[in-house]
Amino acid sequence: MAQRLPVFLALAVAAFLAWQPALAQTARARATASVDLDARFKQVQGDPKLADELFKVGRKVAAVCANCHGDGGNSTRPSIPNLAGQNPAYLLEQVRQFADGRRRNEFMEGMIRAMNADEKIGMVLFYASQEVTPKPATHVALARKGQEYYDKTCFRCHGNVGRGNDQIARIAGQQDEYLRTTLKSYRDGAGVRANSIMTPNTRNMSDADIEAVVAYVSSMP
Ligand code: HEC
Ligand code: HEC
Repeated sequence: MAQRLPVFLALAVAAFLAWQPALAQTARARATASVDLDARFKQVQGDPKLADELFKVGRKVAAVCANCHGDGGNSTRPSIPNLAGQNPAYLLEQVRQFADGRRRNEFMEGMIRAMNADEKIGMVLFYASQEVTPKPATHVALARKGQEYYDKTCFRCHGNVGRGNDQIARIAGQQDEYLRTTLKSYRDGAGVRANSIMTPNTRNMSDADIEAVVAYVSSMP
C-alpha cells in the first residue's frame, strides 16, 4: 500500500504528522478524549466567545486538511469531498463514524483519532461557515435529466436545493467523482457505509441514472 501512495497523499500525511502534536497541545488541556461531542458542541453554540476561540483552532486544523480537501474545504480533487458549507451535525457524525470504525478510510481514521474534541468542533465550525464555489454544469442536457430524477426522489431528504438539514448531508456542489463512487457504493452495498438509509434509496438506480444525478447535483449552487 505505502509504495502506491500518490505523492500528494504522502505529503499530506507527512504534514499531518508534523502538525499534530504542536496543535493538539493548545486545546488538550481543556478537552479530554472522553468529552461528549454533542454536549460540548451545544455548550460552544451557546457561548460566542468560546465559539470564536474554537473557530480559530479549527482554521489551524483545516490548514492540514487543505492538502486533500482544498482551501476552505473546496476540494480541487474530484475524488475527495468538499467540506465547505457542510452541515455541522452531519460533519460531527462522520467524525464519530471514522473514529469508531463504522465508516472506513485509512487516512481519515488516523487523522480523526489524533484530534481532540475541541479540534473536531473547531473544524466543524470552520467548514460549516465556508462557501461552496459553484461549478456550472458542463453537460447541460445530462444535468437536466438528473434534475428530473432528483426532484422525484432525492429532494425528500436532501431538500429542493440539495443543502440537507441538521442530520442530512449537503450534497449541492459536491465533487463529481466522489458523488459517483459514493452513490455506487451505497447502491451495491459494497462499501464502508453499507448500513446507510441511502442503500434502499439508490437500489434502483442504473449507472446512467447515477451519471445524470451526478451531473446535476455537482452543479447545484
Ligand atoms: C490524505 C488526504 C486527506 C486528508 C489530509 C484529509 N482527508 Fe478527509 N477525506 C479524504 C477522503 C479521500 C475522504 C472520502 C472518504 C471516503 O468516503 O471513503 C475524506 C472524507 C472526509 C469527511 C467526510 C465528508 C463527507 O462528505 O462525508 C470528513 C468530515 C473529513 N474527511 C474531514 C477531514 C479533516 C477534518 C481533515 C484534517 C484534519 C481531513 N479530512 C484530512 C481524504 C483526506
Ligand atoms: C430517506 C432520506 C434520503 C433520501 C430519499 C436520499 N438520501 Fe442521500 N442521504 C441521506 C442520509 C441520512 C445521508 C447520510 C447517511 C450516511 O451517513 O450514510 C445521505 C447521504 C448521501 C450522500 C453522501 C454525502 C456525503 O457527503 O458523503 C450522497 C451523495 C447522497 N446522500 C445522495 C443522494 C441522492 C443522489 C439521492 C436521490 C437518488 C438521495 N441521496 C436520497 C438521506 C436520504
